[in-house]
Amino acid sequence: MDMLQVFHMNKGQGEASYAQNCTVQKKIMSLAQSFVEEAIEDYLSKNGCPETMAIADFGCSSGPTALDAVSEIIGVVNATYSKTSRRHSPNFMVFLNDLPGNDFNGVFASLSDFQDKLKKQKDDYDLGGCFIAGLPGSFYGKLLPPKSLHFVHSSSSLHWLSQVPEELNSQENPRLVNKGKVYISMTSTFEVVNAYRQQYLKDFLAFLKSRAEEMISGGRMVLTLVGRKSRDPTSEEDAFPWEFIAQTLARMVSEGLIEEEKLDSFNVPYYAPCLDEIKELVEEESSFIGYRFEAVEVEWDGGMDNNLSKNNEFSSNNINIIMPPTKGEGIAKMHRAVAESMLEHHFGVQFMDPFFLRYSRVLDDYLNNNPNSTHISLVISLIKK
Ligand SMILES: C[S@@+](CC[C@H](N)C(=O)[O-])C[C@H]1O[C@@H](n2cnc3c(N)ncnc32)[C@H](O)[C@@H]1O
Repeated sequence: MDMLQVFHMNKGQGEASYAQNCTVQKKIMSLAQSFVEEAIEDYLSKNGCPETMAIADFGCSSGPTALDAVSEIIGVVNATYSKTSRRHSPNFMVFLNDLPGNDFNGVFASLSDFQDKLKKQKDDYDLGGCFIAGLPGSFYGKLLPPKSLHFVHSSSSLHWLSQVPEELNSQENPRLVNKGKVYISMTSTFEVVNAYRQQYLKDFLAFLKSRAEEMISGGRMVLTLVGRKSRDPTSEEDAFPWEFIAQTLARMVSEGLIEEEKLDSFNVPYYAPCLDEIKELVEEESSFIGYRFEAVEVEWDGGMDNNLSKNNEFSSNNINIIMPPTKGEGIAKMHRAVAESMLEHHFGVQFMDPFFLRYSRVLDDYLNNNPNSTHISLVISLIKK
C-alpha cells in the first residue's frame, strides 16, 4: 500500500467522517495541553518573542482537531503576551501538514470561523496576523526550509509508519508471513516483530532528523502518539485494536467472505512504541533534549458518554424508537473513520459495511467483560539543541 496515495481519514462532515468521530483524539489533545502551555511559556521566557512565530502541526487531518491544536498554541502565546508590557502579539505563520490524500479543502473551509475565533482572543493589546498554509507530504521527510520553525506539534499521528515493513509476506521466508494477524500479536514470529521494530526505528529517526533541520535552536516540540506500557510489543494488553480487527477478518474468512490469503497478506503500517524506545531514539539522533515524557491511559472511546445505551431496552408499539449505539458500535465508527481507506484498498469497498458490523459485535463481546479497558498514549516534549 502506498501511504501517500491511499491513506487518509474519512473526509467531509458526514456521519462516517473523521470530523464527526475524533472523540478519542480530542481527549488525547486535551491531555497534552499542559505540555503545550509549559513548552510555550518556557520558550518565550528564555528566548523572548519573535516578530513572527512559525508553528507546524504534523498530521493535522481534517476534523475540528486540525485547527484546535493551532488555536490552543496561539491562545497560549497570546495569554503569555498579555502578561507582559508588549502592546502587540507576534504574527503567526502556521503550516498544517498531512498526507496528500487528506481533506485539506475541509480544513480550509473552516478557516474563516477559526479567524473569527482568534479575533475574540484579542485583549488589551494588538493581535498579530495569522497566516495559514497547507503542507501536503510525508512528515518522514523534510517539508520546510532549515531553521524556520519555532514550535512543532503532532498529535495521534506518529504511530503511523511510512509503510508496511517491506520484508513482510516475503515468498522466501514463511516466518515473515503474519499468519491470521494484521499487526504484531502474541503469535507473531520474531521476524515479524523485528521487521516492524526496524521500520519504526528508521521512521522515527527520519522524523527527528527532518524536524531537527527545520527547527531553530531552542525551538519546542510536543508530540502525542499511541504507545504501549511494556517493552515487549507482543504483550496482550497492547493488542488493541488490531487483534480484534484480525479476529473479525478471520470470522469473515470462516464465513467464506474473504480468502485466507487476503487476510494473511494484510498488515497495517503502524507501531505503538514504549517510552524507553522513544527516549533511546531521541538520544541516538542527538539534536533534541528530552524535556518531559509521560505515558497516560485513555479510555478506548475517549470517555464518550455512553449512558444512553443503558436505556436501550425501552420499547413501545406506538413510538418509533432509535436505539442508541452500543459502546462497540461507537468505537467501531471511530476506527472506521481512521482505518477505512486502507481496509477498503485491500479488501474492496463491498466488504466495509459487513466488516464494521461484525467488528462492532466483536468489540461489544470484549467490552461487556472488560468495560474499563484503556490504551496508552505517550506525550513527549522536546527542546531543539
Ligand atoms: C488520527 S489522525 C490525527 C489527526 C489530528 N492530529 C488529531 O489529533 O485529531 C492521524 C493523521 O496523521 C496523518 N499521517 C499519517 N502518516 C503521515 C505522514 N507520514 N505524514 C503526514 N501525515 C501523516 C494521517 O493522514 C492522519 O490525518
